[in-house]
Amino acid sequence: MKILITGASGFIGKKLVRFLLGKKISVRVMSRNLESLDNLEHNNLEKIKADAQDYKQVLKALEGIDVVYYLIHSMEGESKDWERFVDLDKRIAKNFADASTECNVKRIIYVGGLVSIPDNEMSKHMSSRQEVGEILKTSKAKVTVFRASVILGKGGGGFEMMRYLVERLPIMVCPKWVLTKLQPIYIDDVVRYLYESLNVKETEARTFDIGGPDILEYREMMKKYGKINNKSIIMIIIPFLSLRFTSYWVDLVTPIKASLARPLVEGLKNESVMTEKSIMDLIPIPLKGVDESLKLTSHEEDKEEFTKKENYLSYLLIILGITGVLHYLIDQRLMTMQPLTGIVTLVWLTVIGIGYYFVRKRARLGSLLAGIVGWTAALFWLTDTMYLISYLPKIGPYQVSKGMAILGSFPDVNTSILNIIGLCIVAVLLVVAHFTFYDKEIYTTQL
Ligand SMILES: NC(=O)c1ccc[n+]([C@@H]2O[C@H](COP(=O)([O-])OP(=O)(O)OC[C@H]3O[C@@H](n4cnc5c(N)ncnc54)[C@H](OP(=O)(O)O)[C@@H]3O)[C@@H](O)[C@H]2O)c1
Repeated sequence: MKILITGASGFIGKKLVRFLLGKKISVRVMSRNLESLDNLEHNNLEKIKADAQDYKQVLKALEGIDVVYYLIHSMEGESKDWERFVDLDKRIAKNFADASTECNVKRIIYVGGLVSIPDNEMSKHMSSRQEVGEILKTSKAKVTVFRASVILGKGGGGFEMMRYLVERLPIMVCPKWVLTKLQPIYIDDVVRYLYESLNVKETEARTFDIGGPDILEYREMMKKYGKINNKSIIMIIIPFLSLRFTSYWVDLVTPIKASLARPLVEGLKNESVMTEKSIMDLIPIPLKGVDESLKLTSHEEDKEEFTKKENYLSYLLIILGITGVLHYLIDQRLMTMQPLTGIVTLVWLTVIGIGYYFVRKRARLGSLLAGIVGWTAALFWLTDTMYLISYLPKIGPYQVSKGMAILGSFPDVNTSILNIIGLCIVAVLLVVAHFTFYDKEIYTTQL
């Protein structure tokens, strides 16, 4: 039996490849970017580069294949384009369905989303996952659909969103979807179902709900995760928080981009609890509960590798803070400063601190705050230094302004030099903050 695993670089795909290789099963893995499969090496492994949008490439990937694990999901790109993924997913599924028929593929095994509400109440994201399953069924291959709720494991979208939120925010303002009931399943149990179904004929051409033994609210799961990791969280539920607001909020405080957060949050609006349990008789495996799954997941190694930009930005924030503090030692005007100016500076330094924290937590909010403190300092130092321009010769007939003495008098020479140094630091910081904020590498591929 020759097997193709699509989405092999993804969350489920990666685990499935390793599991099947461990069972001495030969597999062909497919990705648009073979470098993402660099850490997968085995004698029984064949890698193929293919983009599922290209029918010819799909045909090539399916040559001689009996069983396809369909684990493709296109959630990437700009946040405003997230609805485009839905169409893209359908086109890709159609390519696979047709190519599977042409290549005489015998089985397709697909993992879709689990929802336990009527079709007409389903979120766009969830109905799209369902449609993908329906499109795959148009092929002559026998299609097995496993419908899963949140899958617990490092790298899973829904799980990572929860993890990042709990680890970053002691107090959370949440929309009411945190009260939605879920039936999470541990990643290894999903992989086990995917493997076992190869040998259970009754699973061919059928749809199954899969889930762990526990049903709970997303909120309870967050609290459990917090408890296991010694983080206490306070959640304030605000029912009218919109989807758009929530996804942008998740985008800012976690490394998950709004384009990914939006469908994830949308999906969590829908209750996802098993409504049929026939898989438990056909493939009776011991299933892990939420507590055990979260514990296992928490023990997995979490290596944070910062990009150069993130490192530079954190150093620049420290240097900016030091430059600000140096003003107190050098600037005579600040020595006799009013309490109000002191408070403003303290707030500025606090924002630098929060910015630094979020840069080290790999959240966009860090670069956003770096931009805010950078621009504030730039405006202050520029205005404060404006008087220097008056030393320049007149420009044509124009009288150059002497600027404003914003601290009661103009800065002396030492302060002016410090202002200019500060401006140079700010200029570099603003450029780095801009490129960090828009870094696609950081905010789309690290999950
Ligand atoms: N994660 C969960 O909690 C969860 C829960 C329920 C159901 N599911 C379902 O399980 C399935 C897999 O999810 P996942 O979390 O493992 O996904 P994932 O980590 O986001 O991986 C998606 C995979 O799709 C591949 N892909 C995207 N566009 C492609 C294209 N044009 N051509 C070829 N490959 C493409 C990517 O491969 P390359 O970038 O290497 O090409 C990537 O490996 C999805 O159907 C999802 O709805 C997931």
